[in-house]
Amino acid sequence: MKVLQVTGNQKLTGSIRISGAKNSAVALIPATLLASGTTTLCNVPDISDIDILEKTLNYLNVETKRASGSIVINTKNLENKPIPKELSSKLRASYYFMAILLARFKHVEMYFPGGCQIGLRPIDQTLKAFRLLGAEIKENEHLFIMDANKLKGNLIPLDMPSVGATINTILVAVLAEGETIITNAACEPEITDLALMLNKMGAHIAGAGTSTITITGVPELKGTNHDIIPDRIEAGTYTIIGALLGNYLKIDNIVPLHIKALTDELEKMGANIDIHSDYLIIDNQNKLKGVDVETHVYPGFPTDLQQPFTTLLTQASGVSHLTETIYENRFMNVFYLNKMGANIHIDDKTLEIHGATKLKGEIVEATDLRAGASLLVAALIADGDTEIKNIEHLLRGYEEIVEKLTNVGAKIEIKEI
Ligand code: EPU
Repeated sequence: MKVLQVTGNQKLTGSIRISGAKNSAVALIPATLLASGTTTLCNVPDISDIDILEKTLNYLNVETKRASGSIVINTKNLENKPIPKELSSKLRASYYFMAILLARFKHVEMYFPGGCQIGLRPIDQTLKAFRLLGAEIKENEHLFIMDANKLKGNLIPLDMPSVGATINTILVAVLAEGETIITNAACEPEITDLALMLNKMGAHIAGAGTSTITITGVPELKGTNHDIIPDRIEAGTYTIIGALLGNYLKIDNIVPLHIKALTDELEKMGANIDIHSDYLIIDNQNKLKGVDVETHVYPGFPTDLQQPFTTLLTQASGVSHLTETIYENRFMNVFYLNKMGANIHIDDKTLEIHGATKLKGEIVEATDLRAGASLLVAALIADGDTEIKNIEHLLRGYEEIVEKLTNVGAKIEIKEI
C-alpha cells in the first residue's frame, strides 16, 4: 500500500503548473475511437485513470504511443470485444466505451462503470438516451448488452444535466442519422472541449456549453490533433492550498472563468488573490471569514471542490455552511478532518463548520479522490506529521502531486508500506 507522508505548516512559494483536465481527457481518449485514423492529444495528464484507459484501448486492438504529455492513438485495427469487468469497474469514464462501440458497431457488451463511491450514481439517463437513439438494451447482473439496427437522431430531454449522459449522447449522436437535440444538457467546460475535438474530426455539434446541444449526424469522422483544456479542479485545489499557505504562490496555466465560482467565494472570504489572463497569484496574508456555499452544476460551485473547500473553511472564522446538492455520500473526509481537530457537524446534505480550528497531524485515509485532496490540504496545514493511507485514490486525479508541491516548498513524500 502507498501512503503519503506530509509534514505540515510549510509556506509555499513559486509556481505550480496545472495539467490537462482529467475529466476532459477521460472523455476525449475514448472519443478518438469514433474516427478511423490517427489522433494526437496533447496536455494529457499522467494519472492512473489514463493508464487504465490506455489498457482498454490496447485491449480493443487500438495502438497507442505516449510521450510526455501526449498520446497518439491509431484506431485502424479497432475491434469490438466485451470489455472485462477489471477494466470497466476501475473508473466512471469506462462507460463512454458503451457509446462508442454502439455508435461504431451497433453492438456492445459492457458492465456497469466504476468510479468513486460518493453516491448512487445511476446511469438511467444514458440508457434513456441510447434507447431514444434506437438501441435495444438488455441488462443481466450488471452486464449491459446493447444492439441497434439503425441509430437515428431524436429529441433527448435529460431529466437532470448529467455530465456523463450528455457526453454519451453526443458520442452516439455524432454518427447517427439525422438531427439530435439534447435539452437540459450539462454545460461543463469538459463537454465544450469534447465538442471542439469532435467538430475538428468532422462532426456537426452546436450549442456545447449551453443547455441545448444540437448534433447533426455524419457518416464518418477523421483523426485530428487536439490540446486538452487545463484541469479546473486541480487548479481549484492548489488555489485553496495557496489561500492557506501561499506566499506569492502562482497557479499557472488556468482558465480563470472555469474556476470563477471558487475565486468569487475566496474573494468573499477575504483571500488575497490576483487573477490574470491564464494564471493567478495567491497569498495567505489575510484572515479568512466563513461563507455559506452550495454545490451546483457548472457554472455553479463544483461538487469536486466541495471536499478540499471544507478543509479551507475549518480555517475561516465564524460558522460556515457547505451544502452538497449533487451526490448523496460525499462527506467521508469529515470523520478524518474532525479526528485532526476540525469542528464539523453533518446535518443531512449540509456541513456546519465552526472555525477557525487548529489541525494536528494524524493517520487518516483517503476514501475517494476528492476526499484524498481534502485530507492533503489538511495535512499541509496541520501541526506535525500526517500519514494519508489509500492514496491510490488521489493519484487517479492529480498529476505529479508530490513533485508539484515539493517544488514550492512542501514537505511531502510517497512511501510504500
Ligand atoms: N445522475 C442520475 N442519473 C444519471 C446520471 C446522473 O441520477 O443517469 C445523478 C448522479 O447520481 C449524480 C448527479 O446526477 O448525483 C451528477 O451526475 P453526472 O452524470 O453529472 O456525473 P458523472 O458524469 O458521473 C462527472 C465527473 C465527476 C463530477 C460530475 C459532476 C467524470 C469522469 N466524472 O461525473 O467527477 O463530480 O461529473 O460534475 O467526468 C471527480 O473528478 O472527482 C468526479 C467525481
